[in-house]
Amino acid sequence: MKLLVTGGAGFIGSNFIHYIMGKYSDYEIINLDKLTYAGNLENLSTIESGIGKGRYRFIKGDIADTRCIDGILSTDIDAVINFAAESHVDRSIDNARIFLETNVVGTQVLLDAALRHKVGRFVQISTDEVYGSLGPAGLFTESTPIAPNSPYSASKAGADMLVHAYFETFGLPVITTRCSNNYGPYQFPEKLIPLFITNALADKPLPLYGDGLNIRDWIYVEDHCSGIDAVLHRGRPGHVYNIGGNCEKTNTEITRTILDELAKPQTLIHYVKDRPGHDRRYAIDCTRICTELGWSQRYDFATGMKKTIAWYLANKPWWQRIKNGEYLDFYKRWYSDRQ
Ligand code: NAD
Ligand code: DAU
Repeated sequence: MKLLVTGGAGFIGSNFIHYIMGKYSDYEIINLDKLTYAGNLENLSTIESGIGKGRYRFIKGDIADTRCIDGILSTDIDAVINFAAESHVDRSIDNARIFLETNVVGTQVLLDAALRHKVGRFVQISTDEVYGSLGPAGLFTESTPIAPNSPYSASKAGADMLVHAYFETFGLPVITTRCSNNYGPYQFPEKLIPLFITNALADKPLPLYGDGLNIRDWIYVEDHCSGIDAVLHRGRPGHVYNIGGNCEKTNTEITRTILDELAKPQTLIHYVKDRPGHDRRYAIDCTRICTELGWSQRYDFATGMKKTIAWYLANKPWWQRIKNGEYLDFYKRWYSDRQ
């Protein structure tokens, strides 16, 4: 099988490339990535010269660039898996424009090209954030109405609607996944878990938004990758599959786990001004993917967190370079407003 993976130099995309290259020795992958601040080819250095030699190729490009996408899809691609996105909620609050350009227009360009080149499968990597916020009870199912609250989730919901429209209108064989919060190796240190691990290691404050009691459902990234693998091969076109870790935690619980694992003091916790429009609770019902496609997660939270912390401890140069680079501009601006 020959796959086009978009956004493969980011967190989940690079983990997915490692997963697929390790599992299917005859698969070919083209990785198309714009290399924004979040894209990092270091994540794939062992693929290019090792397991992916001769069957992995990187192309720098934008999913919103029709000519570039047409050129790639004219090379007999069997399936497109679209990870490419602007993915950070706080950045979408700071400036929403690029979120629409990549997440909405970019997805539309990919869908159009997939239609022209008769691609056999199009998997859209969406998010549980499109469902909005839950009260204290209940779970998101695939039929929960879409109700996004941030510019990021609104742009992802817009893409989901387009994906659905291309199925209904043109019969393009699309499938959408909606996963909960991922954590694991190669996650950019602006998201809660890697930000707090790397700040704690440097004895810097951990900025908890609001009362610290917002809830997310956490999944180890490799389990998300195995869910996408199941959907890619066995999912029903036109359908949505939720993927989740069945692991609800408050942000305070996550923070305490990190501090305990690293033997750092609770005094590093700093409560700061809340994220505007901050969704209170996400929780996923993933019965469909479990029963229909036989998927289950492999890693519980304790195991996944230990593996994640060990990775950040073993890969200090990877995140220290990021934290000392252009990322600092956003970090300083955003967090100076939160004090
Ligand atoms: P990320 O920010 O780590 O990576 C995104 C990648 O996309 C980067 O490599 C970036 O360079 C690339 N990219 C951005 N704009 C592009 C463009 N116009 N053309 C080509 N490449 C472009 O994001 P992530 O956390 O790995 O998320 C990947 C996907 O999974 C996103 O679609 C996101 O919405 C979705 N998702 C993420 C999570 C999570 O917890 N991180 C959960 C559910 C769904
Ligand atoms: O649910 C899936 C989504 O999970 C993905 O679609 C997004 O791409 C991904 O970024 C993530 O979104 P969140 O907004 O949930 O993730 P983030 O890591 O930014 O925040 C997790 C929680 O931690 C949230 O309640 C906000 C809080 N938080 C975050 C940061 C960065 C803090 O309290 N302090 C922080 O500094």
